[in-house]
Amino acid sequence: MTNVKGKVAYITGGSKGIGYAVAHSLLEAGMKVAISGRNMKSVKSAARQLGGNGNILAIESDVTKHVDEENAVKAILLKWGTLDVVLANAGVGHFAPIDEMTELQWHNMINTNLNGVFHTLKASVEALKDSKGYYITLASLAGTNFFAMGAGYNATKFGVVGFTQAAMLDLRKYDIKVSTIMPGSVATHFNNNEPSEKDAWKIHPEDIGELVLDLLKMHPRTLPSKIEVRPSRPDKK
Ligand SMILES: NC(=O)c1ccc[n+]([C@@H]2O[C@H](COP(=O)([O-])OP(=O)(O)OC[C@H]3O[C@@H](n4cnc5c(N)ncnc54)[C@H](OP(=O)(O)O)[C@@H]3O)[C@@H](O)[C@H]2O)c1
Repeated sequence: MTNVKGKVAYITGGSKGIGYAVAHSLLEAGMKVAISGRNMKSVKSAARQLGGNGNILAIESDVTKHVDEENAVKAILLKWGTLDVVLANAGVGHFAPIDEMTELQWHNMINTNLNGVFHTLKASVEALKDSKGYYITLASLAGTNFFAMGAGYNATKFGVVGFTQAAMLDLRKYDIKVSTIMPGSVATHFNNNEPSEKDAWKIHPEDIGELVLDLLKMHPRTLPSKIEVRPSRPDKK
């Protein structure tokens, strides 16, 4: 088992939802965690809620902008001197029949979900080579199962799964681990949802937090490279 205590992680889209819950799990395990989002006020407020005894860093970064991700990684290296784990989690969803989907919605998804994970990888890959670190993308079961009104979102998440698997083959020679996590429905604010009792049947964000920690703790010789995770009883809706 790998010791994670003291390791440094960067989570994009950590102001709420899955990213926030993963940050919580990693802090509890004694890691140092940087979280980012487009709105500094909400990132700072999330960092305050997380506490973290000085082990948390709030960063304003829009993953659609490569320079923002470069600056985010620079800020982490300046503060902690290393970067061990990167979770490319920031993502958006617009769901509409393809003839009704707007260009703006299409480009917003491609720029965030697909270009964003590339920007995050590109900005952090040299630091991950130095640390023999771990790069994880938050894809979705929508990256393997297509559905009506999902054409844009499916395109991005199928892309993220392919991107991550190929990146895994490129980067393992540097002892960088690369995985993609593909969840089904998670009880978050995604797509303007307000998490409540109605979401009890879904995966809870803290379950993904535990999953990420399990991956990080796994022996260096073993790599679960593609992880599908789903609600056990979706029929309990
Ligand atoms: N919830 C689900 O059912 C589910 C299932 C499978 C996969 N996923 C994936 O899981 C990931 C996290 O989603 P979630 O459910 O936690 O959603 P969420 O609760 O809406 O949180 C999304 C996070 O991403 C940030 N974000 C959005 N656009 C960004 C950008 N351009 N740059 C930086 N940060 C950005 C948001 O902060 P700001 O808005 O303040 O920037 C927020 O912190 C996404 O990639 C999503 O596709 C979700």
